[in-house]
Amino acid sequence: MRRIVIEDHFASWRAAALRALGERLAPEAIEWRAGDVADLPQDQAALDYSEDHGQDHNQDHGEAPGKESTGGAASAPGSPPTTTPPPPPLHVSKEFSALLHDAALYRDPQRWAFLYKVLWRWQQGDRSAASPADVDGARLYHMAKRVRRAKHDMIAYVRFRKQQATASSTPEYIAWYEPEHDVLPWAAEHFAQRMGAASWLIATPHGAAFWDGSQLHVDRQRAVEGEHRCETDDEAEALWLTYYRSTFNPARLNETALEQHMPVRFWKGLPEGQLIPGMISEAKSGARRIAQASSVGELDGKAIPVEAESAQPLRALPSSLDACRRCDLWRQATQAVPGAGPPHARVMLLGEQPGDQEDLNGKPFVGPAGQLLDVAMQRAGLVRKDLYLTNAVKHFKWEPRGKRRLHKTPAQREVEACAHWLDQELQTIQPSVIVALGATALSALLQRKVALRDYLGTPFQAAGRWVVATYHPSFALRQSDDAAREKVLDEISKALTRAQELAGEQGVGQ
Ligand code: URA
Repeated sequence: MRRIVIEDHFASWRAAALRALGERLAPEAIEWRAGDVADLPQDQAALDYSEDHGQDHNQDHGEAPGKESTGGAASAPGSPPTTTPPPPPLHVSKEFSALLHDAALYRDPQRWAFLYKVLWRWQQGDRSAASPADVDGARLYHMAKRVRRAKHDMIAYVRFRKQQATASSTPEYIAWYEPEHDVLPWAAEHFAQRMGAASWLIATPHGAAFWDGSQLHVDRQRAVEGEHRCETDDEAEALWLTYYRSTFNPARLNETALEQHMPVRFWKGLPEGQLIPGMISEAKSGARRIAQASSVGELDGKAIPVEAESAQPLRALPSSLDACRRCDLWRQATQAVPGAGPPHARVMLLGEQPGDQEDLNGKPFVGPAGQLLDVAMQRAGLVRKDLYLTNAVKHFKWEPRGKRRLHKTPAQREVEACAHWLDQELQTIQPSVIVALGATALSALLQRKVALRDYLGTPFQAAGRWVVATYHPSFALRQSDDAAREKVLDEISKALTRAQELAGEQGVGQ
């Protein structure tokens, strides 16, 4: 077994690996030892190939991947006087070379032995070592992928903070960051090229990088103990926090999307990370409804005590629907949207759930579907103020699509959870006819999942009331041409006319 001692970086491994290949040393015949060679016991450091101690690390790490040939390393000081012939040049593909470079930054003590194994297979003509379908190739791809992710994250989540200048050697900016893999030297090069003459230091638990304005120094041996959040009077940071706070819209909070875009493990290193938990909890505990509540509360001025009841959003009756937690939909909605209309309307129009506009306004059918419903009512000779409009589900269910909140059909269990509120409305309003707009509304009324097509056009009685099933107006909105849209709209207005007839001679008012 040959022990090969290298410094813990790619260039050192590559030079040693090429010489080992030159000697035809099989992977199982080598024990790889990596570390700071100077720190290793003398007898170990003298063994075999201790690599070039005096080498400039910045050059090593800054070297662009993608060379087609990884030919001969110079014989290193500290190696036995060169009896070993220089290794023959080894040709690798650009992609394989890039994979090796990246995988070499994967934090795993076995990485050098593993990389040698795949390089050995490649040299033997076994190209599958670089294929994701091969077991080693898959591991290589996985390592490179994680490293590329760690590189991306480090560029995205390092936050420099301006320091008070205490001495000329104090860096102007300091950042604390905990990279998942050994990407500090790579990221340091990136920042060195972008931060101009301003000096900075990035401290990590596995070393530090310092840019003095013209030169980069990467010290991979010096671990920085503990977590370091620097205290700073950075005005730009204060401005950034104010900006961040002001762009946060509690009404649009989607925790899952937030955590996907900015994973929680990075929060502690970001100035804005300190704000996020507080903003989320404020949003959950009411700031969704009164988005400026906290900032208004912080303003100077006379405090006027207000009864809890009158502090509710403007609506006829404060409703405990606001506090509904029967399912999880409240979490991402601005507010619950109760029904609206005369307390004893003869006809109730039942929709599916509030949409984006309804969620923000707190009223049913005020968005595009509501406008189309108005047209259908007009055609049927009905007036909105005479009808009671409500939804089977009272919170807006949505998913983010770019900057938009896209309607998502509620699950049957959410419809069932909300049945409590529909029951209450039916008890109070006692309508004689209900127009079910779409399958969700109909399923809510019948308390089981049903197909709309089985009920279309034929009014029926349920629990002592007439039910007229028709399309939801958003179905008309989704039609691709005018003729099809017109047909659906016509069906809806016919259903409304039928509902009016069923409601009796005296009309549909109170
Ligand atoms: N769609 C519905 O079902 N209800 C509304 O209130 C708005 C759109």
